[in-house]
Amino acid sequence: MKTTVTTYFDAKKNHEKLTMLTAYDYSTAKLLAQAGVDSILVGDSLGNVMLGYDDTLSVTVEDMIHHCAAVKRGAPDTLVVCDMPFMSYQTSDYDALVNAGRLMKEGHANAVKIEGGAKLAPRIKKIVDAGIPVCGHIGLTPQSINAFGGYKVQGKSLEAGKQLVYDAMALEEAGCFAITLECVPFDLAAYITSKLKKAATIGIGAGNETDAQVLVYADMLGMFSDYVPKFVKHFAEVGKEIRIGVEEYSKAVKSGSYPATEHTYKIDAEVLQAIKDATK
Ligand code: KIV
Repeated sequence: MKTTVTTYFDAKKNHEKLTMLTAYDYSTAKLLAQAGVDSILVGDSLGNVMLGYDDTLSVTVEDMIHHCAAVKRGAPDTLVVCDMPFMSYQTSDYDALVNAGRLMKEGHANAVKIEGGAKLAPRIKKIVDAGIPVCGHIGLTPQSINAFGGYKVQGKSLEAGKQLVYDAMALEEAGCFAITLECVPFDLAAYITSKLKKAATIGIGAGNETDAQVLVYADMLGMFSDYVPKFVKHFAEVGKEIRIGVEEYSKAVKSGSYPATEHTYKIDAEVLQAIKDATK
């Protein structure tokens, strides 16, 4: 079944939980869609997971367009949300609108995701008013890693907790169809979820009371082990399977057991002889 932002509004209204996973390429997106995930995020975690950067700051609009278009080709009927990368929306309303538009027109995204709270709400409203659905992202926002001084749980003090609630309310008011809550204490995420009436919350490291959950696919399939946050659960050990498969392939090639006869193409013996005779 096709999923859209309406799927999110309906699920919020009907108290139904939704799934979101990241993807960055055609084949993975196709598998996720076949498995029935409700939405796909082309996250700027692309920088860490696919491109091997230490953080997300180096990811460009061009990178996001390239990967988002591939994901959309693999999952044409699934809601695809594309991250706006660092410095593609912080500089001005104009830059934010132009770059959000490029992710939609060239990346074929169905919505964009933007990190930031109340201060960005007026800018987000302009993007929403241009007909581009926006997913907010508050709590631990990896593009601000240098300002945070590390990957830490957010909203634990009175002031920080209140600010997160105000941020969520401002983003809902600005028209966000959903708001990602990353690394937010369970009870606070539950409270924010109950306060929002239209925008669904998408939790990552925020407990199971949010309206939806998102994970980086390579994390939850055991494919990425550079660091493993507390909230990650391995639902499969694909990384281990890949290593086993590659070891088996190497053994088979080196022993000559692969390719076997069934993996080869035949040629008529007389034709082969004629080739040999002609090229002696
Ligand atoms: O980039 C990403 O993958 C994200 C999720 C971790 C929410 O923003």
